[in-house]
Amino acid sequence: MCGIIGCVGRGDETLDTLVHGLSKLEYRGYDSAGVAMASGGVDLCKTAGKIEDLRDALSSVSLSGSVGIGHTRWSTHGPPTNANAHPHQDCTGDVAVVHNGIIENYQSLRDELVSAGHTFTSDTDTEVVPHLIEDELADGTAPEAAVRSAISRLEGSYAIAAVIAGTEAVFAARHDSPLVLGLTEGATFLASDVPAFRDFTDQVIYLDDGEFARLDADGWAVSTLDGSPVEKEVNVVEWDPEETGKSGYDHYMLKEIHEQPRALRQCLRGRVDEMAGTVDIEDLGDLSPTGVQFVACGTSYHAALYGAQLFREAGIPAQAFLASEYATAVPPIGDALVVGVTQSGETADTLSALREARKRGARTMAVTNVVGSTAARECDHAFYIRAGPEIGVAASKTFSTQLAALNLLMLGMTNEEGAREVIAALRELPGNVQRILDESNAEAVAETYRDADSYFFIGRGYQFPVALEGALKMKEITYKHAEGFASGELKHGPLALVTENTPVFAVVTGDGEQARKTVGNVKEVEARDAPVVAITDGQSDVGRYADHVLELPETHPRAAAVLANTHLQLLSYHTAALLGRNIDKPRNLAKSVTVE
Ligand code: G6P
Repeated sequence: MCGIIGCVGRGDETLDTLVHGLSKLEYRGYDSAGVAMASGGVDLCKTAGKIEDLRDALSSVSLSGSVGIGHTRWSTHGPPTNANAHPHQDCTGDVAVVHNGIIENYQSLRDELVSAGHTFTSDTDTEVVPHLIEDELADGTAPEAAVRSAISRLEGSYAIAAVIAGTEAVFAARHDSPLVLGLTEGATFLASDVPAFRDFTDQVIYLDDGEFARLDADGWAVSTLDGSPVEKEVNVVEWDPEETGKSGYDHYMLKEIHEQPRALRQCLRGRVDEMAGTVDIEDLGDLSPTGVQFVACGTSYHAALYGAQLFREAGIPAQAFLASEYATAVPPIGDALVVGVTQSGETADTLSALREARKRGARTMAVTNVVGSTAARECDHAFYIRAGPEIGVAASKTFSTQLAALNLLMLGMTNEEGAREVIAALRELPGNVQRILDESNAEAVAETYRDADSYFFIGRGYQFPVALEGALKMKEITYKHAEGFASGELKHGPLALVTENTPVFAVVTGDGEQARKTVGNVKEVEARDAPVVAITDGQSDVGRYADHVLELPETHPRAAAVLANTHLQLLSYHTAALLGRNIDKPRNLAKSVTVE
């Protein structure tokens, strides 16, 4: 996800401080970077690529001033180009703005500004902000009031920082995207995350949604967007600068597991209309395939299995294929849409399957996290899961957002009855995931079974891919043997492996036929002395046969899959932590596998 840095009061060292701050935000993932400095005018330098590219670009320009902002961009609107890199400016060049998040009403604002004579130079949603500020300044509004007024017109999510020529201050505001102030004698900082300025101070103020900040060299002021002063507590950062990047979490994976509520909100934002019970994916054009074939690898394959089930339930024939097997067994394509589910958009097996499908005349789509990735560029359509960058090798938040995105895709392409219930459940999902993150007893369960021989995971229907994913996560980060099965398959072979030292994790939601049958399978393993952990919403009586229960709130079975998976992520994480594994970089594995 994008990173913001702002700084006032470091004199000649302002530019170096900004670039240093950006380098500390690199862990967030980005594809372009830039800085702007304000004095009598505003000087700016930005480029697609890495911080090193920005340093190169800066060596041939001269930026002066002791007030500045900087940004690392992770593309959402428009590809990673110099023009789309932040900061963005107005027509006069007197205003510069950096932004994280998504401005949902940017198109109507842009149309309005263009008709009023403004010229835009990028594809971004962000660029509306400097032009809105420009209009306010042109009307004679003072700089701070101009920024407040412009921001009050935005809908969506944002962390914004702005500088204006002739004003020795940085203005900032947040809604649904983090911002934190750093305080020292004589200088004030602003950033998306503390590491950006931790080398200079441990005194911080976390902004809350709806707050506006003004940073001057000798101080700061926080208020609501409409100007009422807000008392803020100054916190002292406990950790050392060396621990940068994980926001206080021991591992990126744990941080990313905890980022899921926000990632899910980002995924849903602007795409669902709960009142109307509809999903808007109009930017994908007219999609009404007679069938859907999914191709994917690893965790994304589990999301694809789930996706195929969604489409089948809506009456559209759909299958999920392991991408590496697709080319040798391509089934009839006809008018099918071939969908590559791929977090990175760079997995060689998935790209190869998509190319094979295209060769055979299919339309293709990438469901991906990375704007500008190869899959996104090569496919006819790209649908973004908007999870934000994921650094831990084992996928976590990208799986949850893949499941949410596949629901949106299906609902946007079909007129499924019951869409309203699904949309309501999706809306509740971020809050319900947060509840599990706050209350899960997965750590205690991990402690109980840390020495188990093998771990088995079972589930039916939407919970079958969750069982597979639970086992994959366990294998990847604990190096312990784990297998996921369709509940009904257990008795056709794997039951021979079940002993008192092989805990069985059973995902059972609802109280329908599938749940009753899985409870029957649970009794089979219980009778063979295997410990049972039920991941359940308590609607069935599976708890009676379980040694431990990981509880879910009652919800739609499709949403329950995401909730059950959250417990299983925590289970694997804590088991791996107890075993002292290299959780973020498990042995032999890579985040993005670019060979077949
Ligand atoms: C690698 C990663 C997995 C991931 C798989 C597919 O094997 O280690 O975590 O699920 O690639 O990656 P993709 O980027 O295509 O989703």
